[in-house]
Amino acid sequence: MSKKIILSGIQSTGNLTLGNYLGAINNWTKMQEDYDCHFMIANLHTLTIRNDPETLRQNTLNLLALYIASGINPEKSNIFIQSQVASHAELAWVLNCYTYMGELSRMTQFKDKSAKHADNINSGLFTYPVLMAADILLYQADLVPVGEDQKQHLEITRDIAERFNKIYGQTFKIPEPYVQGVAARVMGLQDPTSKMSKSSTLENDSILLNDEPEVILKKFKKSVTDSENIVRYDKENKPGISNLITIYSAITGKTKENIEKEFEGKGYGDFKTAVANCVIEELKPIQEKYKELKENPDYLEKIFRRGAERAYTIAHKTLEDVYKKIGMVWF
Ligand code: TRP
Repeated sequence: MSKKIILSGIQSTGNLTLGNYLGAINNWTKMQEDYDCHFMIANLHTLTIRNDPETLRQNTLNLLALYIASGINPEKSNIFIQSQVASHAELAWVLNCYTYMGELSRMTQFKDKSAKHADNINSGLFTYPVLMAADILLYQADLVPVGEDQKQHLEITRDIAERFNKIYGQTFKIPEPYVQGVAARVMGLQDPTSKMSKSSTLENDSILLNDEPEVILKKFKKSVTDSENIVRYDKENKPGISNLITIYSAITGKTKENIEKEFEGKGYGDFKTAVANCVIEELKPIQEKYKELKENPDYLEKIFRRGAERAYTIAHKTLEDVYKKIGMVWF
């Protein structure tokens, strides 16, 4: 039996947070044995906002280093940069012609992002989910690990694939969302009702993966809590403490109940320090490996070249099938 195929990706838009790590990358590393994994650096998706070109180039390479530093093994999983596999942009164009304006207008991310960037509501932002569909469908992915905020994009991917298959016969595998057992949804430390985000404008809201230990400690110390002073999970009424419990649980593997017991009779100060320390310990080897990788650009280049080649071989096969079916002259 061949392994099931997984594809996922993160946009290369700058500093990754503890949320990206605990919510995505850390779980990906656990899937490598059991699945045939493709982990993409989604640099084309970042073009929907204005980037400084040199920063974008650096962010892309940084994300590659971070994937590896976090434990994605390039000998087991395929890591590649989206823009280096031309089939993504090509299939996205085709699929655009099988996607309706109506369905794209219903995407909540489009509505949110156009409200945020009212001065730059470009067509790329609108057709963003179609490029994402192309990413997934090119690899005939069975499973796509995505966070809550990307579920709708996976649904539209399925709709587009089913529509295409209905007209032209079986072409794309219909992907399923991969429900992550332990994936943590990490919220902001200052605003625990919104997702921890690299673009947060609140100071001390996000832990960045390259934050120094003192900074991590400071940010946790300043995190918003409540006045009860009891370490108890209650997402509705105690979103701040509940978020810290989630983080602590994701890293230590302890259950919420055990954590509540562990900190019975202790105050928030102790708990915050414990959470900060476990985060610092978790990130330490990653930060070290990351530095090492950044000093070795030749190695990184070797990985992305090989990744692009492997990815292209698979992606191009799907694209060829599509082009033949829709009537492009083949050579
Ligand atoms: N849109 C995803 C995000 O912002 C990133 C992404 C691009 C992706 N292509 C993908 C995720 C394909 C999963 C599969 O998080």
